[in-house]
Amino acid sequence: MKLTVIGGGSTYTPELVDGIARERAALPVSELVLADPDARRLELVGGLAARMLARAGHPAKVVTTGDLDEAVDGAAVVLVQLRVGGQAARRVDETLPLECGCVGQETTGAGGLAKALRTVPVVLDIAERVAARAPDAWIIDFTNPVGIVTRALLDAGHRAVGLCNVAIGVQRRAAALLDAAPERIALGHAGLNHLTWVRSIALDGRDVLPELLERHAGELAAMAGLPEPFVRRLGAVPSYYLRYFYEHDRVVREQRGAPTRAEEVAALERDLLAMYADPALDTKPARLEERGGAYYSEAAVQLAVSLLTGRGDVQVVNVRNNGALPFLDDRAVVEVPARITSSGPVPLPVPPLEPLFSGLVAHVSGYEELALDAALRGGVERVADALLAHPLVGQLEFADRLARDLVAANRAHLPWA
Ligand code: G6P
Ligand code: MN
Repeated sequence: MKLTVIGGGSTYTPELVDGIARERAALPVSELVLADPDARRLELVGGLAARMLARAGHPAKVVTTGDLDEAVDGAAVVLVQLRVGGQAARRVDETLPLECGCVGQETTGAGGLAKALRTVPVVLDIAERVAARAPDAWIIDFTNPVGIVTRALLDAGHRAVGLCNVAIGVQRRAAALLDAAPERIALGHAGLNHLTWVRSIALDGRDVLPELLERHAGELAAMAGLPEPFVRRLGAVPSYYLRYFYEHDRVVREQRGAPTRAEEVAALERDLLAMYADPALDTKPARLEERGGAYYSEAAVQLAVSLLTGRGDVQVVNVRNNGALPFLDDRAVVEVPARITSSGPVPLPVPPLEPLFSGLVAHVSGYEELALDAALRGGVERVADALLAHPLVGQLEFADRLARDLVAANRAHLPWA
Protein backbone atom coordinates (compact mmCIF):
# COMPACT_ATOMS: atom_id res chain seq x y z
CA MET A 1 0.00 0.00 0.00
CA LYS A 2 1.27 3.43 -0.96
CA LEU A 3 1.01 6.20 1.60
CA THR A 4 1.88 9.71 0.50
CA VAL A 5 2.75 12.65 2.71
CA ILE A 6 2.43 16.07 1.10
CA GLY A 7 4.70 18.35 3.07
CA GLY A 8 6.82 15.28 3.75
CA GLY A 9 9.85 17.50 4.36
CA SER A 10 8.20 18.75 7.54
CA THR A 11 10.12 18.19 10.75
CA TYR A 12 6.92 16.43 11.97
CA THR A 13 7.41 13.56 9.52
CA PRO A 14 9.52 11.34 11.85
CA GLU A 15 6.54 11.44 14.26
CA LEU A 16 4.44 9.93 11.51
CA VAL A 17 7.10 7.39 10.54
CA ASP A 18 7.19 6.31 14.16
CA GLY A 19 3.42 5.66 14.03
CA ILE A 20 3.70 3.77 10.74
CA ALA A 21 6.44 1.57 12.16
CA ARG A 22 4.44 0.87 15.32
CA GLU A 23 1.21 0.00 13.48
CA ARG A 24 2.87 -2.22 10.93
CA ALA A 25 0.36 -5.03 11.31
CA ALA A 26 -2.71 -2.81 10.95
CA LEU A 27 -1.33 -0.53 8.23
CA PRO A 28 0.67 -2.51 5.64
CA VAL A 29 2.61 0.34 4.02
CA SER A 30 4.93 -0.87 1.26
CA GLU A 31 5.84 2.55 -0.11
CA LEU A 32 6.10 5.78 1.86
CA VAL A 33 6.27 8.80 -0.43
CA LEU A 34 7.43 12.10 0.98
CA ALA A 35 6.64 15.02 -1.33
CA ASP A 36 7.98 18.51 -0.73
CA PRO A 37 9.21 21.45 -2.80
CA ASP A 38 12.26 21.80 -0.50
CA ALA A 39 14.87 19.31 -1.77
CA ARG A 40 17.26 19.81 1.15
CA ARG A 41 14.57 19.04 3.73
CA LEU A 42 13.43 16.04 1.73
CA GLU A 43 16.94 14.65 1.75
CA LEU A 44 17.34 15.07 5.52
CA VAL A 45 13.86 13.94 6.53
CA GLY A 46 13.77 11.16 3.93
CA GLY A 47 17.11 9.84 5.14
CA LEU A 48 15.96 9.69 8.74
CA ALA A 49 12.63 8.10 7.72
CA ALA A 50 14.46 5.33 5.86
CA ARG A 51 16.78 4.69 8.81
CA MET A 52 13.86 4.60 11.24
CA LEU A 53 11.96 2.04 9.14
CA ALA A 54 15.10 -0.06 8.66
CA ARG A 55 15.74 -0.07 12.40
CA ALA A 56 12.15 -1.21 12.99
CA GLY A 57 12.58 -3.94 10.39
CA HIS A 58 9.75 -2.38 8.39
CA PRO A 59 9.72 -3.40 4.72
CA ALA A 60 8.41 -0.09 3.28
CA LYS A 61 10.64 1.76 0.87
CA VAL A 62 10.90 5.53 1.23
CA VAL A 63 10.58 7.63 -1.93
CA THR A 64 11.20 11.37 -1.93
CA THR A 65 9.97 13.61 -4.71
CA GLY A 66 9.17 17.19 -5.64
CA ASP A 67 6.65 16.03 -8.24
CA LEU A 68 3.09 16.09 -6.89
CA ASP A 69 1.55 13.96 -9.65
CA GLU A 70 4.13 11.24 -9.20
CA ALA A 71 3.70 11.48 -5.44
CA VAL A 72 -0.04 10.85 -5.39
CA ASP A 73 -0.25 8.39 -8.29
CA GLY A 74 -1.89 5.19 -7.06
CA ALA A 75 -1.76 6.16 -3.37
CA ALA A 76 -4.26 4.66 -0.92
CA VAL A 77 -3.89 7.50 1.56
CA VAL A 78 -2.63 11.04 1.03
CA LEU A 79 -1.75 12.93 4.15
CA VAL A 80 -1.58 16.70 3.73
CA GLN A 81 0.55 18.51 6.32
CA LEU A 82 1.91 21.53 4.52
CA ARG A 83 2.49 25.15 5.47
CA VAL A 84 2.31 27.64 2.60
CA GLY A 85 4.93 30.36 3.14
CA GLY A 86 6.58 28.48 6.01
CA GLN A 87 7.34 30.06 9.37
CA ALA A 88 7.96 33.45 7.72
CA ALA A 89 4.31 33.74 6.68
CA ARG A 90 3.26 32.42 10.07
CA ARG A 91 5.22 35.21 11.73
CA VAL A 92 3.12 37.78 9.89
CA ASP A 93 -0.08 36.00 11.01
CA GLU A 94 1.18 36.19 14.58
CA THR A 95 2.18 39.86 14.58
CA LEU A 96 0.11 41.89 12.14
CA PRO A 97 -3.24 41.53 13.97
CA LEU A 98 -1.60 42.87 17.16
CA GLU A 99 -1.45 46.30 15.51
CA CYS A 100 -5.24 46.42 15.83
CA GLY A 101 -5.28 44.97 19.34
CA CYS A 102 -6.32 41.56 17.99
CA VAL A 103 -4.74 38.23 18.88
CA GLY A 104 -1.85 37.10 16.69
CA GLN A 105 -2.33 33.39 16.09
CA GLU A 106 -1.80 31.14 13.11
CA THR A 107 -5.23 29.49 13.13
CA THR A 108 -7.44 31.75 15.25
CA GLY A 109 -8.70 35.21 14.26
CA ALA A 110 -7.15 37.32 11.52
CA GLY A 111 -3.97 35.21 11.30
CA GLY A 112 -6.06 32.10 10.72
CA LEU A 113 -7.87 33.86 7.90
CA ALA A 114 -4.58 34.80 6.23
CA LYS A 115 -3.50 31.18 6.52
CA ALA A 116 -6.77 30.01 4.97
CA LEU A 117 -6.33 32.41 2.04
CA ARG A 118 -2.83 31.07 1.35
CA THR A 119 -3.68 27.43 1.89
CA VAL A 120 -7.07 26.60 0.37
CA PRO A 121 -6.02 26.99 -3.32
CA VAL A 122 -2.87 24.92 -2.78
CA VAL A 123 -4.68 22.06 -1.04
CA LEU A 124 -7.46 22.07 -3.65
CA ASP A 125 -4.87 21.79 -6.41
CA ILE A 126 -3.32 18.79 -4.67
CA ALA A 127 -6.75 17.20 -4.19
CA GLU A 128 -7.51 17.54 -7.91
CA ARG A 129 -4.32 15.66 -8.70
CA VAL A 130 -5.34 12.97 -6.20
CA ALA A 131 -8.79 12.71 -7.81
CA ALA A 132 -7.16 12.24 -11.22
CA ARG A 133 -4.40 9.81 -10.23
CA ALA A 134 -5.68 8.03 -7.15
CA PRO A 135 -9.48 8.37 -7.25
CA ASP A 136 -10.04 5.89 -4.41
CA ALA A 137 -7.52 7.50 -2.08
CA TRP A 138 -8.49 9.07 1.21
CA ILE A 139 -7.15 12.55 1.85
CA ILE A 140 -6.35 13.15 5.52
CA ASP A 141 -5.89 16.85 6.10
CA PHE A 142 -3.81 18.03 9.04
CA THR A 143 -3.12 21.33 7.27
CA ASN A 144 -4.55 24.31 9.11
CA PRO A 145 -6.97 25.89 9.38
CA VAL A 146 -8.36 22.34 9.34
CA GLY A 147 -12.07 23.25 9.54
CA ILE A 148 -11.95 25.61 6.56
CA VAL A 149 -9.60 23.43 4.49
CA THR A 150 -11.76 20.35 5.08
CA ARG A 151 -14.90 22.25 4.08
CA ALA A 152 -13.14 23.35 0.88
CA LEU A 153 -12.18 19.74 0.10
CA LEU A 154 -15.64 18.33 0.79
CA ASP A 155 -17.43 21.08 -1.14
CA ALA A 156 -15.22 20.23 -4.13
CA GLY A 157 -16.32 16.58 -3.84
CA HIS A 158 -13.10 15.05 -2.51
CA ARG A 159 -12.79 12.01 -0.22
CA ALA A 160 -11.35 13.95 2.68
CA VAL A 161 -11.31 13.93 6.47
CA GLY A 162 -9.86 16.70 8.64
CA LEU A 163 -7.67 15.82 11.58
CA CYS A 164 -6.36 17.61 14.65
CA ASN A 165 -4.44 16.29 17.64
CA VAL A 166 -6.25 18.31 20.34
CA ALA A 167 -8.80 15.56 21.10
CA ILE A 168 -6.31 12.70 21.24
CA GLY A 169 -4.20 14.89 23.56
CA VAL A 170 -7.11 15.18 26.02
CA GLN A 171 -7.85 11.47 25.70
CA ARG A 172 -4.23 10.59 26.51
CA ARG A 173 -4.13 13.02 29.42
CA ALA A 174 -7.36 11.63 30.85
CA ALA A 175 -6.03 8.09 30.43
CA ALA A 176 -2.91 9.00 32.40
CA LEU A 177 -4.95 10.67 35.17
CA LEU A 178 -7.27 7.66 35.37
CA ASP A 179 -4.44 5.17 35.00
CA ALA A 180 -6.39 3.48 32.21
CA ALA A 181 -5.62 2.42 28.63
CA PRO A 182 -6.60 5.22 26.19
CA GLU A 183 -8.86 2.85 24.21
CA ARG A 184 -11.19 2.67 27.23
CA ILE A 185 -11.82 6.41 27.08
CA ALA A 186 -14.38 8.10 24.83
CA LEU A 187 -14.61 11.88 24.73
CA GLY A 188 -17.78 13.92 24.45
CA HIS A 189 -15.86 16.40 22.31
CA ALA A 190 -17.82 18.99 20.33
CA GLY A 191 -17.44 22.21 18.37
CA LEU A 192 -15.33 23.39 15.46
CA ASN A 193 -11.64 22.71 14.89
CA HIS A 194 -9.67 24.66 17.51
CA LEU A 195 -12.96 25.69 19.15
CA THR A 196 -14.03 22.66 21.17
CA TRP A 197 -15.08 21.57 24.60
CA VAL A 198 -14.93 18.07 26.06
CA ARG A 199 -18.26 17.79 27.91
CA SER A 200 -17.97 14.19 29.04
CA ILE A 201 -15.17 11.67 29.47
CA ALA A 202 -16.49 8.13 29.45
CA LEU A 203 -14.38 5.36 30.96
CA ASP A 204 -15.80 2.01 29.78
CA GLY A 205 -19.02 3.87 28.94
CA ARG A 206 -19.48 5.71 32.28
CA ASP A 207 -18.97 9.50 32.43
CA VAL A 208 -16.17 10.21 34.90
CA LEU A 209 -15.65 13.90 34.00
CA PRO A 210 -17.29 15.17 37.23
CA GLU A 211 -14.90 13.02 39.29
CA LEU A 212 -11.93 14.02 37.16
CA LEU A 213 -12.79 17.70 37.66
CA GLU A 214 -13.17 17.05 41.37
CA ARG A 215 -9.71 15.51 41.68
CA HIS A 216 -7.69 16.90 38.77
CA ALA A 217 -9.18 20.29 37.80
CA GLY A 218 -5.71 21.81 38.19
CA GLU A 219 -4.14 19.52 35.57
CA LEU A 220 -7.08 19.91 33.18
CA ALA A 221 -7.03 23.70 33.56
CA ALA A 222 -3.27 23.79 32.98
CA MET A 223 -3.76 21.85 29.77
CA ALA A 224 -6.26 24.50 28.60
CA GLY A 225 -4.08 27.36 29.89
CA LEU A 226 -7.10 28.73 31.80
CA PRO A 227 -7.80 29.33 35.50
CA GLU A 228 -8.79 26.28 37.52
CA PRO A 229 -11.95 27.77 39.11
CA PHE A 230 -13.19 28.69 35.64
CA VAL A 231 -12.71 25.18 34.27
CA ARG A 232 -14.53 23.76 37.30
CA ARG A 233 -17.38 26.17 36.67
CA LEU A 234 -17.56 25.25 32.97
CA GLY A 235 -17.80 21.59 33.89
CA ALA A 236 -16.04 20.86 30.60
CA VAL A 237 -12.47 20.78 29.33
CA PRO A 238 -11.96 23.61 26.83
CA SER A 239 -9.32 23.25 24.13
CA TYR A 240 -6.27 25.43 24.67
CA TYR A 241 -7.33 27.50 21.66
CA LEU A 242 -10.27 28.84 23.72
CA ARG A 243 -7.82 30.87 25.74
CA TYR A 244 -7.58 33.17 22.70
CA PHE A 245 -11.27 33.94 23.20
CA TYR A 246 -11.76 33.80 26.98
CA GLU A 247 -8.54 35.70 27.74
CA HIS A 248 -8.17 37.59 24.49
CA ASP A 249 -6.85 40.90 25.77
CA ARG A 250 -4.53 39.22 28.25
CA VAL A 251 -3.03 37.12 25.47
CA VAL A 252 -2.55 40.24 23.33
CA ARG A 253 -0.67 41.90 26.21
CA GLU A 254 1.54 38.82 26.58
CA GLN A 255 2.19 38.62 22.86
CA ARG A 256 3.32 42.22 22.51
CA GLY A 257 7.11 42.23 22.58
CA ALA A 258 7.40 38.50 23.16
CA PRO A 259 9.07 36.25 20.57
CA THR A 260 6.56 34.68 18.21
CA ARG A 261 5.85 30.97 18.07
CA ALA A 262 6.99 31.14 14.41
CA GLU A 263 10.45 32.24 15.53
CA GLU A 264 10.61 29.57 18.22
CA VAL A 265 9.57 26.88 15.77
CA ALA A 266 12.03 28.12 13.11
CA ALA A 267 14.89 27.81 15.64
CA LEU A 268 13.70 24.39 16.76
CA GLU A 269 13.41 23.25 13.15
CA ARG A 270 17.02 24.27 12.48
CA ASP A 271 18.13 22.14 15.43
CA LEU A 272 15.94 19.21 14.43
CA LEU A 273 17.15 19.25 10.83
CA ALA A 274 20.75 19.29 12.04
CA MET A 275 19.97 16.21 14.14
CA TYR A 276 18.21 14.50 11.22
CA ALA A 277 21.40 14.98 9.17
CA ASP A 278 23.30 12.67 11.53
CA PRO A 279 23.53 9.28 9.77
CA ALA A 280 23.70 7.57 13.17
CA LEU A 281 20.24 8.84 14.18
CA ASP A 282 17.57 6.22 13.50
CA THR A 283 14.82 7.11 15.98
CA LYS A 284 12.60 10.13 16.44
CA PRO A 285 14.49 12.62 18.62
CA ALA A 286 12.93 13.62 21.95
CA ARG A 287 13.14 17.29 21.03
CA LEU A 288 10.41 16.78 18.46
CA GLU A 289 8.07 16.82 21.45
CA GLU A 290 8.64 20.57 21.66
CA ARG A 291 6.42 20.91 18.60
CA GLY A 292 2.66 21.16 19.17
CA GLY A 293 1.76 17.97 17.32
CA ALA A 294 1.90 15.43 20.14
CA TYR A 295 0.12 12.16 19.24
CA TYR A 296 -0.47 13.42 15.72
CA SER A 297 1.05 10.24 14.29
CA GLU A 298 -1.14 8.09 16.48
CA ALA A 299 -4.28 9.91 15.37
CA ALA A 300 -3.30 9.89 11.69
CA VAL A 301 -2.38 6.22 11.60
CA GLN A 302 -5.52 5.16 13.49
CA LEU A 303 -7.66 7.18 11.10
CA ALA A 304 -5.95 5.70 8.04
CA VAL A 305 -6.41 2.15 9.35
CA SER A 306 -10.11 2.68 10.04
CA LEU A 307 -10.81 4.33 6.68
CA LEU A 308 -9.02 1.56 4.79
CA THR A 309 -10.44 -1.37 6.74
CA GLY A 310 -13.86 0.01 7.73
CA ARG A 311 -13.08 -0.87 11.33
CA GLY A 312 -16.08 1.16 12.53
CA ASP A 313 -14.47 2.56 15.66
CA VAL A 314 -15.11 6.08 16.95
CA GLN A 315 -12.56 8.85 16.45
CA VAL A 316 -12.76 12.62 16.74
CA VAL A 317 -12.48 14.10 13.24
CA ASN A 318 -13.53 17.06 11.13
CA VAL A 319 -16.56 16.08 9.13
CA ARG A 320 -19.71 17.51 7.59
CA ASN A 321 -22.16 18.53 10.28
CA ASN A 322 -25.23 16.76 8.83
CA GLY A 323 -27.31 17.63 11.88
CA ALA A 324 -24.77 16.81 14.62
CA LEU A 325 -25.01 20.47 15.74
CA PRO A 326 -28.57 21.26 14.58
CA PHE A 327 -28.16 25.05 14.82
CA LEU A 328 -25.48 24.95 12.07
CA ASP A 329 -25.86 24.38 8.35
CA ASP A 330 -25.69 20.66 7.47
CA ARG A 331 -22.79 21.46 5.12
CA ALA A 332 -20.67 23.14 7.81
CA VAL A 333 -17.65 21.19 9.03
CA VAL A 334 -17.61 20.31 12.72
CA GLU A 335 -15.15 18.49 14.96
CA VAL A 336 -16.97 15.68 16.75
CA PRO A 337 -16.67 11.96 17.47
CA ALA A 338 -17.58 9.96 14.37
CA ARG A 339 -17.80 6.30 13.45
CA ILE A 340 -15.10 5.66 10.86
CA THR A 341 -16.42 3.44 8.09
CA SER A 342 -14.86 2.56 4.75
CA SER A 343 -17.14 5.12 3.13
CA GLY A 344 -16.05 7.81 5.55
CA PRO A 345 -16.77 9.15 9.03
CA VAL A 346 -20.36 9.31 10.27
CA PRO A 347 -20.77 11.80 13.13
CA LEU A 348 -22.40 10.45 16.29
CA PRO A 349 -25.32 12.36 17.81
CA VAL A 350 -24.11 15.22 20.05
CA PRO A 351 -26.06 16.16 23.19
CA PRO A 352 -27.42 19.72 22.66
CA LEU A 353 -24.69 22.33 23.16
CA GLU A 354 -25.17 24.75 26.05
CA PRO A 355 -25.79 28.38 24.96
CA LEU A 356 -22.42 29.36 26.46
CA PHE A 357 -20.80 27.23 23.76
CA SER A 358 -23.33 27.25 20.91
CA GLY A 359 -23.30 31.03 20.44
CA LEU A 360 -19.56 31.09 19.89
CA VAL A 361 -19.67 28.04 17.62
CA ALA A 362 -22.37 29.58 15.44
CA HIS A 363 -20.46 32.84 15.27
CA VAL A 364 -17.18 31.22 14.22
CA SER A 365 -18.91 28.85 11.80
CA GLY A 366 -20.35 31.89 10.00
CA TYR A 367 -16.86 33.35 9.84
CA GLU A 368 -15.50 30.07 8.41
CA GLU A 369 -18.06 30.11 5.62
CA LEU A 370 -17.09 33.67 4.66
CA ALA A 371 -13.39 32.86 5.02
CA LEU A 372 -13.74 30.00 2.55
CA ASP A 373 -15.63 32.23 0.13
CA ALA A 374 -12.83 34.80 0.36
CA ALA A 375 -10.19 32.11 -0.20
CA LEU A 376 -11.98 30.75 -3.26
CA ARG A 377 -13.08 33.97 -4.92
CA GLY A 378 -10.59 36.50 -3.56
CA GLY A 379 -11.09 40.21 -3.06
CA VAL A 380 -10.16 42.48 -0.19
CA GLU A 381 -13.84 43.15 0.58
CA ARG A 382 -14.61 39.47 1.02
CA VAL A 383 -11.62 39.21 3.35
CA ALA A 384 -12.94 42.20 5.31
CA ASP A 385 -16.41 40.64 5.55
CA ALA A 386 -14.93 37.45 7.01
CA LEU A 387 -13.04 39.50 9.60
CA LEU A 388 -16.17 41.45 10.44
CA ALA A 389 -17.90 38.13 11.11
CA HIS A 390 -15.11 36.91 13.40
CA PRO A 391 -15.82 37.45 17.11
CA LEU A 392 -12.17 38.38 17.74
CA VAL A 393 -12.17 41.16 15.13
CA GLY A 394 -15.76 42.26 14.51
CA GLN A 395 -15.21 46.01 14.11
CA LEU A 396 -15.33 47.74 10.74
CA GLU A 397 -12.20 49.82 11.24
CA PHE A 398 -10.08 46.80 12.18
CA ALA A 399 -11.65 44.47 9.61
CA ASP A 400 -10.93 46.88 6.78
CA ARG A 401 -7.41 47.67 7.92
CA LEU A 402 -6.42 44.06 8.61
CA ALA A 403 -7.93 42.89 5.33
CA ARG A 404 -5.87 45.42 3.40
CA ASP A 405 -2.66 44.73 5.33
CA LEU A 406 -2.95 40.94 5.39
CA VAL A 407 -3.65 40.80 1.67
CA ALA A 408 -0.68 43.09 0.98
CA ALA A 409 1.64 41.02 3.20
CA ASN A 410 0.51 37.74 1.60
CA ARG A 411 0.35 38.90 -2.01
CA ALA A 412 3.04 36.43 -3.15
CA HIS A 413 0.86 33.54 -1.96
CA LEU A 414 -2.52 34.74 -3.22
CA PRO A 415 -3.43 33.79 -6.77
CA TRP A 416 -5.94 36.66 -7.06
CA ALA A 417 -4.08 39.53 -5.38
C1 G6P B 1 -1.36 21.68 17.67
C2 G6P B 1 -2.51 21.94 16.76
C3 G6P B 1 -2.03 21.94 15.34
C4 G6P B 1 -0.95 22.97 15.18
C5 G6P B 1 0.17 22.72 16.17
C6 G6P B 1 1.17 23.85 16.15
O1 G6P B 1 -0.87 20.43 17.37
O2 G6P B 1 -3.54 21.01 16.89
O3 G6P B 1 -3.13 22.20 14.50
O4 G6P B 1 -0.44 22.92 13.87
O5 G6P B 1 -0.33 22.63 17.46
O6 G6P B 1 2.36 23.39 16.66
P1 G6P B 1 3.70 24.22 16.50
O7 G6P B 1 4.76 23.39 17.08
O8 G6P B 1 3.85 24.46 15.00
O9 G6P B 1 3.46 25.51 17.23
MN1 MN C 1 -4.98 21.26 15.30
